[in-house]
Amino acid sequence: MSSRSASDPILEVQKTLPQLPLKKSEIVIRELKDGEECILWDVFYSAVHDVAARHYSQAQVDAWAPENLDKTYWVERIRKLQPFVAQSGDMIVGYTDLQPSGFIDHFFVSGNWGRRGVGTALMTHLIKTAENQKIPLLSAFVSLAAQSFFQKFGFEIIKHQTQLVRGVEIENAHMTKNL
Ligand SMILES: CC(C)(COP(=O)(O)OP(=O)(O)OC[C@H]1O[C@@H](n2cnc3c(N)ncnc32)[C@H](O)[C@@H]1OP(=O)(O)O)[C@@H](O)C(=O)NCCC(=O)NCCS
Repeated sequence: MSSRSASDPILEVQKTLPQLPLKKSEIVIRELKDGEECILWDVFYSAVHDVAARHYSQAQVDAWAPENLDKTYWVERIRKLQPFVAQSGDMIVGYTDLQPSGFIDHFFVSGNWGRRGVGTALMTHLIKTAENQKIPLLSAFVSLAAQSFFQKFGFEIIKHQTQLVRGVEIENAHMTKNL
């Protein structure tokens, strides 16, 4: 369902970018605009297949982010989440969401943009937003690939668990952070 082909010139340019940490001013956090939902699919797919895949089997990542996921389903899913995105230049490079309950459903940074501060920019914005909304507790079901990152921001593991995703068991941890 990718909205870009492998020969897309933007992707070719992106591959050649030096992998330096981004300055704060180089990352803009903003709300998702209508019509951008499928760009988030590219981010999600890349985060799962290129980054999380280091901690999971091929069967697990294929169940988590299936190649042939229905586009209509994805667009509806993303609209319900009301995510905010991280933009660098004209590229959306990560996204997350904050539900009124304090639950974070998605938190993904594109594989090509890892360890450059995009996740930090998203999490900093998320925590500030939750504080402004007087949300007392943040929670998430955090993948094996992201637990160290969440711990860095003060989240603690409540329990390790296994969830059934499209018939495949996937391990994660229920993590929370008091605000
Ligand atoms: C976890 C994730 C969101 C982090 O995003 P990121 O943009 O790479 O994070 P940052 O560059 O802001 O990292 C900040 C710090 O977090 C820690 N960190 C980030 N990724 C880490 C990893 N894989 N292992 C250990 N520490 C990590 C490091 O301390 C890092 O600082 P450093 O690079 O100077 O050492 C991203 O790797 C991702 O999308 N992973 C796969 C998808 C996933 O599992 N999402 C969570 C679903 S709940």
